[in-house]
Amino acid sequence: MLAQAGIGSRRSCEDLIRDGRVRVDGEIAELGMKVDPLKNKILVDGEGITLPRKQTYVLLYKPKGYISTVRDPQGRPKVTDLVPLSGVRLFPVGRLDYQTSGLLLLTDDGELANMLTHPRYGVWKTYHALVQGKPSPTVLQQMREGLPLSDGKTAQAKVRFLGMQSSDKGLLEISLREGKKRQVRRMCDCIGHPVHELERKSVAFLNLEGLSPGEYRFLTPKEVQRLKKISKRKDTISQQRS
Ligand code: URA
Repeated sequence: MLAQAGIGSRRSCEDLIRDGRVRVDGEIAELGMKVDPLKNKILVDGEGITLPRKQTYVLLYKPKGYISTVRDPQGRPKVTDLVPLSGVRLFPVGRLDYQTSGLLLLTDDGELANMLTHPRYGVWKTYHALVQGKPSPTVLQQMREGLPLSDGKTAQAKVRFLGMQSSDKGLLEISLREGKKRQVRRMCDCIGHPVHELERKSVAFLNLEGLSPGEYRFLTPKEVQRLKKISKRKDTISQQRS
């Protein structure tokens, strides 16, 4: 428990106890003794310890027809309805439109959510957009370099044409490091190829593998750690892709 509180490694915490530097309710602690941090007062070298609150991280495969806000005045189905966890108040990390499907993270960790959505940290998000017609190499290059939207020019993007899905609809893979409102749809409108279907395939190194629409899983502690590391670095591209 001392290690969880960030006091040191497991071994060094054991040393602290052996050295008599830890007190529980005023008494010198012993190795192996049962302690409840909510009931017992624990001091290390006379200072109280703070245990980190356990936080929840969920990866949801959002289906179409769900709103990714916590409240909706129109009473439409909400993504949080799909993750009914008692005692946890999750909120979505960023937004996906009502009619967009794909990867959406939900958490109660405001700090990580902020870092993942702030353009400064430049986390890559990859979308598959089924668009009207076949965009030419010229317009795809314009998308990569930046398009003049009403709220400013878009930042550099990665764009690949994945092929025609029917006689009149093509599939694009678009990776963005920013998140303007309805950005993919507006970019595709801007080049004259409106979106029919939109799905977010990945956020950083996370993808939808093993999930069907409406299903969710918890992030592993390793994944959470890796996300936190990405968020703390400015130059994040190689980490996210590896
Ligand atoms: N871009 C869009 O247009 N919609 C989304 O939901 C996400 C990105």
